[in-house]
Amino acid sequence: MIIILIGYMGSGKSAVGKALAEVLEYEFIDLDQFIEEQEGRSISKIFENQGEIYFRKVESKYLSLVLEKSENIVLAPGGGTPCYGDNLKLLKNHSGIHSFYLKASIKTLANRLLSETAKRPLIAHLTSEEQIVEFIGKHLFERSAFYSQTDRVLETDEKSIQDLVEQIVLALF
Ligand code: S3P
Repeated sequence: MIIILIGYMGSGKSAVGKALAEVLEYEFIDLDQFIEEQEGRSISKIFENQGEIYFRKVESKYLSLVLEKSENIVLAPGGGTPCYGDNLKLLKNHSGIHSFYLKASIKTLANRLLSETAKRPLIAHLTSEEQIVEFIGKHLFERSAFYSQTDRVLETDEKSIQDLVEQIVLALF
């Protein structure tokens, strides 16, 4: 079984994914981390040196690769992964995939991302909370059409990592 956690930057994909993988004794794969290992440099460096279009190309390539060679995994793709190229189609058509959208409010996301802008190339240029809130609001509006095509939507505000893991396990087994 392949469990995919979709969501905006800061929605908790990696934290929930790691905890879920531990409970299920599955391998956890963070797609960004996988890309960094394969490409030998950070996501920020890839954006800086080769630009976003190149990043989206390698993101699709490594997504296909991970899906092809994996059996029992919890996968956390990047926040943009389902929104580019044929990635969403691939996720929907691949057999044995269960997808969850970790839905967080703009306020929650902004609070979490405020101190982490430097390592996230898409928001690295934003300096105030106001700017971040405005950016996330617009961006999330564009992306929600993709995110909401997952099998299940989980509201994450006010929920602990453990609550979300339980909800996912109950939905699957
Ligand atoms: C991106 C999200 C990031 C990373 C890249 C682009 C996006 O992943 O893939 O910076 O387009 O939302 P996280 O969602 O894991 O931060």
